Amino acid sequence: MFSLQNKIIVAAIAGMFLILGGAVILSGQSMAEPFNQGPKKCAECHKAEFQIWEETKHAKSFKKVHKSKLAKALAKATGNKSMKKNETCVQCHYTLVAKDAASAAKAKPKAGPSCESCHGASSDWFTIHNNRAEPKDERIVAATAAGMRWSFDRYGIAENCNECHGLANANIDPEKLAIMLENGHPAKPDWEYVKYSQGSIRHRFYPPDMTKNAEMTPAEMSRAFVVGQAAKLVSATIAISRSGSPKFIEFQQARAEAARAALSGVDAAKTLIENPNRENAVALTAAIKDQDLSGTVGGLLPTEFK
Ligand code: HEC
Ligand code: HEC
Ligand code: HEC
Ligand code: HEC
Repeated sequence: MFSLQNKIIVAAIAGMFLILGGAVILSGQSMAEPFNQGPKKCAECHKAEFQIWEETKHAKSFKKVHKSKLAKALAKATGNKSMKKNETCVQCHYTLVAKDAASAAKAKPKAGPSCESCHGASSDWFTIHNNRAEPKDERIVAATAAGMRWSFDRYGIAENCNECHGLANANIDPEKLAIMLENGHPAKPDWEYVKYSQGSIRHRFYPPDMTKNAEMTPAEMSRAFVVGQAAKLVSATIAISRSGSPKFIEFQQARAEAARAALSGVDAAKTLIENPNRENAVALTAAIKDQDLSGTVGGLLPTEFK
């Protein structure tokens, strides 16, 4: 069990080198951004995960979020009054889907946040993913290099939720994020990974029983809590450094403070608290990977889930 996990981590690290190597090899060619193919493409094989996703707010919001007064006002304040065409809103609220590389620049919103919003746009990793003749170790390395975010990339997954839910998406102009906040876009400094990931969105169909959507053990939950807080602290710190808006900075400081308080009892988090950057957060995630931290953070864990 642990040896598989170790292998996977080694493979993930190797994947990062492959990305670097790939960038060198491909630097002569034009590297197109990967694009989304949409959740139906994944549903062909992942029926259980799709059925869970369909019932989530991520899926259901697609038909209604743009209709509220608030949505219209926010869209107008940030430049394009159609939420589905507003380049800021679409980054977080929709899955922009394209048929092929040629039409990728004109990808259209076809769903709310979906599979690829969390697991990575699949155009470059889809063929690798479905070539199951290839040994799994090698597939993991290649798919990671092509942009797939696996379930065992604990930090990457929590970081990605925090970028949307913490209004800290690095691809979005911080000026626009500040305008959203100033015009009443929801902002929750107490957003917490375990509370939000172990309710409606949970899909954890793992061996030995692939038919069971497994709940986290207390030890898993304690680690997920710490990793989530680490991602929150780092994303808030980066967001603060990018913005000049007092209201935006105040919100990000509240996120950072909440995360610091949650991590204050965790010995392995000392370096991260002193110097909140991604490298230290990834190191913390690796350091606690087999630990049960319920003794330290158990009292802070949520008992109700979204
Ligand atoms: C043709 C079938 C097929 C399609 C289509 C497919 N998958 Fe998979 N996927 C699998 C199988 C089988 C596995 C099981 C483990 C493996 O990779 O060996 C898997 C594994 C995964 C995992 C890894 C589980 C882990 O432990 O992290 C993720 C994440 C995933 N798929 C996401 C997706 C997404 C997102 C899409 C759509 C873009 C997709 N898959 C499309 C068959 C498919
Ligand atoms: C950085 C990511 C991000 C961007 C950009 C963003 N949103 Fe949001 N939005 C969210 C998240 C996350 C929520 C859910 C907050 C929660 O309830 O936890 C949300 C919630 C909302 C809600 C409330 C929905 C409800 O069900 O109550 C509206 C309305 C909304 N956003 C409109 C917009 C509009 C319009 C834009 C573009 C100007 C926009 N958002 C841009 C992430 C974003
Ligand atoms: C909001 C983010 C999010 C969305 C949307 C999402 N996933 Fe996941 N997915 C995760 C997380 C987080 C895990 C890891 C769960 C764990 O191990 O705690 C995961 C794990 C998985 C796994 C491995 C566990 C299992 O259930 O087999 C597969 C396969 C997978 N996702 C496929 C999909 C597919 C297909 C979709 C779309 C129908 C999807 N995911 C949508 C976040 C997401
Ligand atoms: C691409 C941006 C994006 C990512 C990534 C993302 N979310 Fe969301 N999430 C949203 C938006 C937008 C909403 C609000 C939808 C609405 O209300 O219309 C939302 C809503 C939710 C809700 C419903 C909240 C409620 O009050 O009912 C949950 C739960 C949630 N997200 C959990 C997660 C978790 C956990 C992750 C990471 C594994 C994640 N999300 C990743 C954008 C995102």
